Amino acid sequence: MTRDLETMCGIFAAVSDKPVAHILLEGLKRLEYRGYDSAGIAMLDDHKLKRVCAVGKVTELESRMDSEAFPGCIGIAHTRWATHGSPSEANSHPHMADGVAVVHNGIVENHGELRRRLKRQGCSFLSETDSEVIPWLISRAVAGGAGAANAVRSLSDDLEGSYAVAVLTEADGDVLHAKRHGSPLVAALGPLGGYLSSDISALAGFADEAIVLDDGDQVELRRDAIAVFDKSGRAVTRPRMTVEAVGNDFDKGGYPHYMLKEIHDQPGVARAIESRYDAGDFIAEQVTLDFNRIDRIRMIACGTSYYACQVARRWFAEVAGLSADVELASEHRYEPVVADGLREAAILVSQSGETADTLASLDKLKGLRVPTVGIVNQQGSTLAREADFFLPLLAGKEIGVASTKAFLAQLLVLARLVAHAADQRGHRAAAKRLRTALVAAPKAIEAALHNESAIVAVAESLAKAQSALFVGRGALYPLAMEGALKLKEISYIHAEGFAAGELKHGPIALVDDKTPIVALAPSGDLFPKLASNLREIAARNGRIILLGDRKALLALSDIASASLTLPSCDELIQPIVAAVPLQFLAYYVAVARGLDIDRPRNLAKSVTVE
Ligand code: AGP
Repeated sequence: MTRDLETMCGIFAAVSDKPVAHILLEGLKRLEYRGYDSAGIAMLDDHKLKRVCAVGKVTELESRMDSEAFPGCIGIAHTRWATHGSPSEANSHPHMADGVAVVHNGIVENHGELRRRLKRQGCSFLSETDSEVIPWLISRAVAGGAGAANAVRSLSDDLEGSYAVAVLTEADGDVLHAKRHGSPLVAALGPLGGYLSSDISALAGFADEAIVLDDGDQVELRRDAIAVFDKSGRAVTRPRMTVEAVGNDFDKGGYPHYMLKEIHDQPGVARAIESRYDAGDFIAEQVTLDFNRIDRIRMIACGTSYYACQVARRWFAEVAGLSADVELASEHRYEPVVADGLREAAILVSQSGETADTLASLDKLKGLRVPTVGIVNQQGSTLAREADFFLPLLAGKEIGVASTKAFLAQLLVLARLVAHAADQRGHRAAAKRLRTALVAAPKAIEAALHNESAIVAVAESLAKAQSALFVGRGALYPLAMEGALKLKEISYIHAEGFAAGELKHGPIALVDDKTPIVALAPSGDLFPKLASNLREIAARNGRIILLGDRKALLALSDIASASLTLPSCDELIQPIVAAVPLQFLAYYVAVARGLDIDRPRNLAKSVTVE
């Protein structure tokens, strides 16, 4: 499988007996969170294909469409995240060739060779993309007498790489054709017609159920019928998944940005997790692993999800007496395998469930016959479907590129998995302490939200900095790294997270009166050590922004240039509570700098390229 070559593009398509232009635009808006730099639509109008594209936002595409009529009842749409060729109108999808329009998610590895062949046959290319060979391959096959369905089927003879395609032809104008190999695609039928989408959640409100296509599947979608064929061309019935109602997920709920709304969603997420996970023995039903027969946990993830695993690594050791390694998926996938005879289970954590590196790690672990637990937010995603065991994050749709509520949900679910493992391994007192701490979590998260206005003032001064350092110890060291990641990804201020005890080994050279140092310093076992580290910073004129409970803030009041209060809680759940002010801090710094918070430059929500 060539998962690692997928792109972050989004596909949405619709066929109805009513005009679909507004549906296509709505679908694209729902896919915006994936990250993109241009968008486009092709529709049939009076049996003729009509294409409109725009660089930049979907709203730009929408305003272009306002000036012309788009009455068609069938169309394909696309958000493009540039890989081959810069973001430009010519490189935007749909690509067209002689009565065929195609939107593509993936990478055609052998596009150079195919392009040369097609050029020799007289085809002319308008873009620099790998994708443009696809409409030409289809139109050549149609011209040679193949029907549209067979022409799409024959793509697998020519294309190397990964693809999900939606195809609209003038010759077969009532049908949307689609095919999937490596890149995700779902198909659905609703009261108004048929739909294709890269992401099941974009179908909410349009259809109640969707079919997640298997690799090699091809679809013929009409206004009132859906037919799926496997890679050998046999008609097949695939299981249907419920399209979860998104509630107000696509609505900003009165907040100026999704990120701020999602930060405020967090107490609700904590309660949703509580009611699903704590009512019965949900984890025991979902994960039938015996943690007594496991010598080591291997946790794999990227970015923010990786930092959640770093926190859980300490919980596994401290609460369940189980050693755990945490690896970045991008490294793990290429690491040499050492057969040390230890019995392992792997936990893969991902908001999207489509991160290419994490999926490559999943494949590797499956090859090694290591049992895998997927902890995933995105319903119907590849990781959720393909891991041996699945635990849902229940955070609801996360749209802001900067992960907030999914991170918190990862910590809350991982903590419950640790408590379950601890119980199985006979560490009952420690498991009980963690469970009791978790009961207090929703209220503590709510209390942390009350600090918002105090954070705004601190953020305004931080917004002027060129660089910032974040420090913490123990389970708060990963939070220091997460705080720094949040800040850099949406404010573009250089930021690094350090274990406070490491400062003397190099990073303290960065300390001066211009570089703010955000210190995670609540009371606890490691507080005296951290306090000494902070005094060393203060002695070098460091500007300390202190995050701690009242007792800690009092103890360090003489060296703090600003203080933010964390609610008191059991030390075990301090990382959960500390996440909230770090999210606010990054958010309000980006607000002060006037940046595009939900769609920061160069980033995509779901990183489906290696
Ligand atoms: C988080 O704010 C980032 N946008 C990013 O680091 C993200 O956590 C990472 O890409 C992993 O994504 P996943 O959880 O969907 O696998």
